[in-house]
Amino acid sequence: MITVTVPATSANVGAGFDSLGLALSMHNVFTFEECDRIRISSVDGTRVPTGANNLVYRSARAVYDQLGIPLRGLRITQRNAIPMARGLGSSSACIVAGILGANALLGDKLTSRQMLTLATAIEGHPDNVAPAMLGGFVTSVYDEGQVYSVKKMIDEQLAFAAFVPDFRLLTSKARAALPAMVSHKDAVYNLSRAALATAAFCDGDYSLLSVATKDALHQKYRLPLIDGGEEMEELAQDLGALAVYISGAGPTIMAVVHRDDEEFFARAKESLPQSEKLKHFTVHRLLPDNVGATVK
Ligand code: HSE
Repeated sequence: MITVTVPATSANVGAGFDSLGLALSMHNVFTFEECDRIRISSVDGTRVPTGANNLVYRSARAVYDQLGIPLRGLRITQRNAIPMARGLGSSSACIVAGILGANALLGDKLTSRQMLTLATAIEGHPDNVAPAMLGGFVTSVYDEGQVYSVKKMIDEQLAFAAFVPDFRLLTSKARAALPAMVSHKDAVYNLSRAALATAAFCDGDYSLLSVATKDALHQKYRLPLIDGGEEMEELAQDLGALAVYISGAGPTIMAVVHRDDEEFFARAKESLPQSEKLKHFTVHRLLPDNVGATVK
């Protein structure tokens, strides 16, 4: 039996739309066994599709198809810690697990680069699947069907506060809210900040993050879809976050903090239930995952 563990991810990191992403200490665990039919189950009570449309299975099948190997079925179990449709990479975790699991069952025929390219083709953009697979802080470009990524370790002195609301927001809906065209000014606004955010993470200059994670391409269009999102960002800023941004397509609001800033979490936990506008958010204290997906 193959066991694949995949971290949660937080994509975009503000300005790096469809490019930047980082891996965090919350994990889904999947097992894979060869089987003559499809047998998929959730071991934690989460409802998951149990047929050929299951994303883990579809991603595994893509590996069989790429290698030209017929697939009759698989026995897959899923343990889901990453909340679904919250901007924390639950879909990417399924895709990465399916690909790594199938590749291990088939004797490791694909390279990491081939698997990352396949995962990106299924997901449509690399910013979640790359850190899910590689761990750390990953910068990616998807160019003519090829993924180009650089992974850097995330400073272990950082922690991440994921403010997760009690409702889902489908990425498709959050992407539909974006304009088809943007101005040259907004493009420059973002590319300069995405570059600065990457340099700031690499250099450990976190004083730059509040400016570097500002964005003009997606967050202002998505905040209206997130009930309490604006107030949540304000609270996280007031509590002293180094940076606050919408995680992936939302609706989770992510704050970057110093790992030893325990007061941030204590005050956040105290404040959320007291606020009518924020009581549907739960805060999770997450740490960097610099390892990425593992296969055993
Ligand atoms: N970059 C993607 C988006 C992440 O913001 O739509 C969600 O998959």
